[in-house]
Amino acid sequence: MQPSDSYLGPVIRLRRGQRVRIELINELPEPTIIHWHGLHVPDDMDGHPRHAIGPGQRYVYAFRVLNRAGTYWYHAHPHGRTGHQVYHGLAGLLLVSDEEEAALRLPGGDQDMPLVIQDRTFDDDNQFVYPAAGHGMGASMMSRGGGGRGMGSMMASMMGVLGDRILVNGRQVQALDVDRRARRLRLLNGSNTRTYKLAWNDGSPLTVIGTDGGLLAAPAHRKFLVLGPAERADIWTDFANWKEGESPSLQSLPFEGGMTMGSGPLPDGSQFPVLQFRIVGSGPVEPARLPDRLAQLPPVQASVAINAEHPKVFDLTMGMMVWGINGRPFEMLQATAQETVKLGTHEVWEFRNEGRNSMMGMVMAHSMHIHGLQFRVIGREIADRFAAAYRTVQPGLMDEGWKDTVLVMPGERVRVLVGFEDYPGLFLYHCHMLEHEDSGLMRNYLVKA
Ligand code: C2O
Ligand code: CU
Repeated sequence: MQPSDSYLGPVIRLRRGQRVRIELINELPEPTIIHWHGLHVPDDMDGHPRHAIGPGQRYVYAFRVLNRAGTYWYHAHPHGRTGHQVYHGLAGLLLVSDEEEAALRLPGGDQDMPLVIQDRTFDDDNQFVYPAAGHGMGASMMSRGGGGRGMGSMMASMMGVLGDRILVNGRQVQALDVDRRARRLRLLNGSNTRTYKLAWNDGSPLTVIGTDGGLLAAPAHRKFLVLGPAERADIWTDFANWKEGESPSLQSLPFEGGMTMGSGPLPDGSQFPVLQFRIVGSGPVEPARLPDRLAQLPPVQASVAINAEHPKVFDLTMGMMVWGINGRPFEMLQATAQETVKLGTHEVWEFRNEGRNSMMGMVMAHSMHIHGLQFRVIGREIADRFAAAYRTVQPGLMDEGWKDTVLVMPGERVRVLVGFEDYPGLFLYHCHMLEHEDSGLMRNYLVKA
């Protein structure tokens, strides 16, 4: 059950420090470009939609891997079509290794299991159904590939697409045979809009060893783990905790604050199974050991930010059927003064999800991603009237390590410490609920040398 025996792209394995050259050849009937999610790369290597190539064209990527070991991924990023193309399979994992990680001797080989979780809907011929129309494309493109019209489709294009079947590595809920050894489960929420609240069915805690940007300083334990679209978590699991013949399963637990409008048969925040294991074989006898120090992680010091006392505020807004940031929808080449930063500095940014200016005061969660860097989460604040719903999610948020994507729940303000340390240029930041991104919840920031 490798992720790549499916509609997903191949797993790309890289070493820190390595030089990479990748050639993208567009054999689609529409523009595309590939983004390396989580990697620190120069802006023309990052897969910005301004670099999308037409049918039959090529794009050559060449960069050095600066990232720490971790679970990253890649996916299509042409403006207005990201949701459509990722849904149909233009995504895959990118695993980086380094010496610090190798020294820990974490489970490797087939005990290192990447698990890409996605939801999809199928038609009677077992073909993907993608109900959103997409934005910014001609009408002929909009009708291609099942993109319907009308209210349902408009709703899906705005609010997001939820599938009613859960796939792991491209296959439906299945029982995987595992022996009683320790495994590293690298979870990626590769869904367009759905958020997962993952837990073991018997209440065993999850041992988290890594987040978006690689290993934590030390293992952390959670009863459940909440992953918004594009977030990753590295889970260490000793299957010797279960006996031969038992079937531990990962499931998604109910929560509030997900996408509720027009959500179909499997609403966001409902309960469902994700992946089942079946324990085979009785050995080994000695329990596996996980080191209690994992990696060097610099302490978070918000005081390094040039605006430590005055965070930059990014309001997630919705105007007349378009999402935006501070009221502005996506503009391909623009960045405002607030969105302009200086190379070599750190800033505090605050994402606010308060439904300002929104239709009917509607607020839903957003999964905010910043390109080209990893950041640290330094604070969260929830508005009183959302506090009860928030409690169904909060204990499962993992803010400890390096992040490139952070879930911002309804009524929440999330403060992050962002360092612009590597490259100058124009980079994106956006909601990773792909239909939100495609319909305007995306902007550029400009790093000036
Ligand atoms: Cu994975 Cu611009 O995103
Ligand atoms: Cu969003």
